[in-house]
Amino acid sequence: MIARLDLAAIHDLCLALPRFARVPLAHLRHLNPGQRQAFWLDEISQSLAKESSIAFVSIVSGTINGFIVYNDSPWDSEITGRRIGTVEHIAVADGDDSGTEILQELLGELTRNLADRGTQCLVCKVHSNELRAIHALEQSGFLLMDTLLDFVFDFSRTPIEEIKPPRQDKQLKVRRAKPADLSALMAINEKAFTGYFGRYHADPQMPPDTATKIYAQWVRSAFEGWADWILVAEVDGRIVGYGLWRKPLEIEAKNSLSVAHYDLAAIDPEFLGRGLWTALMFDGMRIARNYAQYLVGPVHVCNYPVQHTLQKLGWRISGARHSFHKWLN
Ligand SMILES: CC(C)(COP(=O)(O)OP(=O)(O)OC[C@H]1O[C@@H](n2cnc3c(N)ncnc32)[C@H](O)[C@@H]1OP(=O)(O)O)[C@@H](O)C(=O)NCCC(=O)NCCS
Repeated sequence: MIARLDLAAIHDLCLALPRFARVPLAHLRHLNPGQRQAFWLDEISQSLAKESSIAFVSIVSGTINGFIVYNDSPWDSEITGRRIGTVEHIAVADGDDSGTEILQELLGELTRNLADRGTQCLVCKVHSNELRAIHALEQSGFLLMDTLLDFVFDFSRTPIEEIKPPRQDKQLKVRRAKPADLSALMAINEKAFTGYFGRYHADPQMPPDTATKIYAQWVRSAFEGWADWILVAEVDGRIVGYGLWRKPLEIEAKNSLSVAHYDLAAIDPEFLGRGLWTALMFDGMRIARNYAQYLVGPVHVCNYPVQHTLQKLGWRISGARHSFHKWLN
């Protein structure tokens, strides 16, 4: 049986979660099952509390064996001019042979309900080892758009003092960004992300220029307070790159997860291969050390320069997530 899920039923879901196959925060290997469950429950509660949430559970013999939670994505929708929504949670109980079918039923129920909402594009990100969810998404018409590797850095395993500092370009100065730097960063973004390969580039149904608009808005939001620190790289007084970072999020701090976030960076293509990104990264990591024991950073699976440099600095690949899109026409 498929039934609506709302915040009032969170207690029943809480009891069911330990039987679920999905391992939340799988890329943070040091966490114990209790910490993972507590964080997951907080995340689900946050999703359900949003005004746009639509959620369903699958119930067999009075027991929850699957659930799905959806929300509108106003940020992406405004930038793209398309109504985009996200499947924020999709999971099925461990050991259930019909797991893929259960998830397909949940996706089907959600899609039917979205017809009234007017959602045009449905986004879902799942870990690469969640095979039943991947199969259910593909069998429900979702297409794979990209894969992100979850890189993690652990200060207790690699003290920052033991990392060989990057070669110092004498003309390079790394400093905190000022509001007046925004236009220079926008110009770099335009050049650095035009030929990029993320999910917005990969989806032929996205309107033209969506990807560059998304990255531009990302940086604008960072200046409006979304990022906790923004570093810029200057060569001979000219801004040639930037990096965005965040401290542990509120939900992470509440769950004692000592995790800071490397979110985005770009270097002016005229200045590539001079070690500028490596230097920016190293300085960003030194600041992050004040806030967290672990650093996380998602990296596109095709971004070899970034993967190479992160590994050189002591980061390790700790997981992977696939991004799927489905257009509901
Ligand atoms: C990726 C990017 C940040 C790199 O900037 P950069 O200043 O040229 O990087 P660096 O010079 O510090 O380091 C690049 C390293 O990657 C290596 N590299 C380059 N191409 C590579 C490849 N195909 N495979 C492996 N390593 C590669 C370089 O040799 C260098 O390593 P080295 O210093 O050990 O020789 C820049 O190209 C960019 O802005 N790209 C577009 C936006 C982007 O990808 N942002 C990051 C999103 S997470």
